[in-house]
Amino acid sequence: AAATTADGTTTDAPPTLPTDRRTGCPFDPPAGLTALSDTPMRRLRYADGHVGRLVTGHAAARAVLADPRFSSRYELLHLPVSMAGMSGELPPAPVGDIIGLDAPEHSRYRRLLTGRFTVRRMRRLTERAEQLTSECLDAMEQAGPTVDLVEAFARPVPALMICELLGVPYAERDRFQSQVAILFDQTVGEGPKGEAYTALLQYLEELVLAKRAEPTDDLLSDLTSADLTDEELAGIGGLLLAAGLDTTMNMLGLGVFALFSNPDQLDALRADPGLAGQTAEELLRYLSVADPLLRSALEDVEVEGELIRAGETVTVSVQAANRDPRRFPDPDRLDIHRRATGHLAFGHGAHQCLGQQLARVEMAVALPALFARFPTLRLAVPPREVPLRDRANIYGVVSLPVTWDKE
Ligand code: HEM
Repeated sequence: AAATTADGTTTDAPPTLPTDRRTGCPFDPPAGLTALSDTPMRRLRYADGHVGRLVTGHAAARAVLADPRFSSRYELLHLPVSMAGMSGELPPAPVGDIIGLDAPEHSRYRRLLTGRFTVRRMRRLTERAEQLTSECLDAMEQAGPTVDLVEAFARPVPALMICELLGVPYAERDRFQSQVAILFDQTVGEGPKGEAYTALLQYLEELVLAKRAEPTDDLLSDLTSADLTDEELAGIGGLLLAAGLDTTMNMLGLGVFALFSNPDQLDALRADPGLAGQTAEELLRYLSVADPLLRSALEDVEVEGELIRAGETVTVSVQAANRDPRRFPDPDRLDIHRRATGHLAFGHGAHQCLGQQLARVEMAVALPALFARFPTLRLAVPPREVPLRDRANIYGVVSLPVTWDKE
């Protein structure tokens, strides 16, 4: 088959993005994704026939993500696999969705937000994380000794935490949780996705009006003092809610599954809960659930000696970069004793995850608390029967049936 490159020439069609995880270990990148790790970059055929790049090397991935000559604007991107029936020509980012903006628009919003993710606020959230986790574990104990860990633990812990941060009533979670799940589901079409987004925004607009009328001690109220319209504020609230829910949920669910599958690592964590922070970092590297990240070259750019042409879409495979043996020795091993810092699971550069401190706190508090409460916690089904979320933007488990011995 032939394909057309960004400068209009025709070439032999390069391969498409490997996505099949059904063979092999559920924690490893799809077969074929890291196989060429000697070459940090290769040509990639996109869903609409566009020929761009796939970046799998750690250094090249960092270089692309740090370089403002690569744009994040949705309307410039081609999609490596079609999502919601779309493969390219995406609409521009809706108001408040700063992930799809470039400087200077992006920088303005970003400054407003980083100034409000304060040390004091994060410290208070850590204390709340302990309390909220403990309440979830109480409920789980009541429901047990066999539960779906996603519903009992991995979903509620991040939901409670993001509600606490933003000042969203957890009791109103029915008004946002299912909408967020739809937004991250690749199998849902454009129509229902649009409806879910509208419903999410409507909920946030109501909330913004309530906070403006009667500010409380939370991030959303705090943001009402910034120079932002109601529409911008609702959009930013929607982004924070969406970005903070499914990502952390999948890190917790898939993270516990990965620890079950590496019993020596789980034993080490159980023996020394002081390893929790390091374990969270290594799980972030090893699992890389938010993947891939897309950019579009605004001009010709040379990366690691290769010329990327203006107009080419670059797919940065975080999973592959985080398994680059030149950066992380023996990369396919989950090793909670390694120094996994420097991984790209939260991205890199201007768009690096705003919620990373919160996500780290949630994982470092929740994982040891779970294993301390249930010392005999284990899978209730054979590992191959655990359903994987392989058609979602964020990778993870659909459910994780677990059981424990009652005293
Ligand atoms: C951006 C991953 C949790 C809020 C990002 C990006 C990644 C990421 C990879 C960069 C996207 C890009 O460059 O295109 C994760 C993972 C999480 C997590 C793996 C959980 C373990 C959170 C939480 C929040 C959050 C809890 C909210 C408090 C955001 C926001 C952005 C972002 C607002 C956009 C920043 C910008 O465009 O400037 N995240 N995230 N994330 N994340 Fe997270």
